[in-house]
Amino acid sequence: MSTPEQPQGGPKHSDARGPGRRRVQRSPRPTGEHGQPREHGQPREQRKPLEQRQGRERVPSELRAARAGAPRRRRTPEQIEARRAAVPTVRYPEELPVSQRKDEILAAIRDNQVVIVAGETGSGKTTQLPKICLELGRGVTGMIGHTQPRRLAARTVADRIAEELGTELGAAVGYQIRFGGSVGDQTLVKLMTDGILLAELTHDRMLSAYDTLIIDEAHERSLNIDLLLGVLKQLLARRGEHVTAQG
Ligand SMILES: Nc1ncnc2c1ncn2[C@@H]1O[C@H](COP(=O)(O)OP(=O)(O)OP(=O)(O)O)[C@@H](O)[C@H]1O
Ligand SMILES: [Mg+2]
Repeated sequence: MSTPEQPQGGPKHSDARGPGRRRVQRSPRPTGEHGQPREHGQPREQRKPLEQRQGRERVPSELRAARAGAPRRRRTPEQIEARRAAVPTVRYPEELPVSQRKDEILAAIRDNQVVIVAGETGSGKTTQLPKICLELGRGVTGMIGHTQPRRLAARTVADRIAEELGTELGAAVGYQIRFGGSVGDQTLVKLMTDGILLAELTHDRMLSAYDTLIIDEAHERSLNIDLLLGVLKQLLARRGEHVTAQG
């Protein structure tokens, strides 16, 4: 049989490979996510990361640590009173420049929402500012959050402040880092890495666990610190409280 478009005696196939061969339209081979061939019989679902297959989200360890340290409930008036009663007596080493100007710094923190403290290295900014905040009554309704760029510093500074206040680490003064920490219900001053505080924003956007924040080494202007300062600037308008940055 021939059709009107195929003149008698003409080629029956336009295929360049000659008569008798037909071009077969193949369906594309099944491929994996990155274009590699999928193994025969292996369903796509099985190659997803375990967390996704089980319906769990993948959570970075810093975020997990931040969630672990998050307050689980609002404090009752009795609990707040217990925290107030547990504030240790604050004493300052006389020889430190920050101690000598303590009243001035205390008034600045009391009267301003944001205070920037600059001073010589070793003048007592890191170790004495949280104590000045405690003397002002901060740390009771919410904690005094004190960030450090490095994990080791978060731990050693917490140790040092706890020692100066005559308390155990994990009681009035605690710390939290990516791979551990020691923070309890009675913790008034919490040392942490700036990464932890950033991660806490994901579940506590108002940072309501804190009534005061000290962003230490703010002059380093790392990505974490810049992000935090940006977020805190926005939070200041929504919360009428206090941030201390120090370099
Ligand atoms: N763990 C510690 N053991 C002994 N002395 C310490 C400890 N931590 C701090 N000090 C001392 O306390 C004083 C105040 O230190 P602090 O870290 O508060 O100073 P700083 O003003 O924050 O300094 P920097 O600008 O270097 O951060 C310093 O003399 C310091 O040597
Ligand atoms: Mg310091």
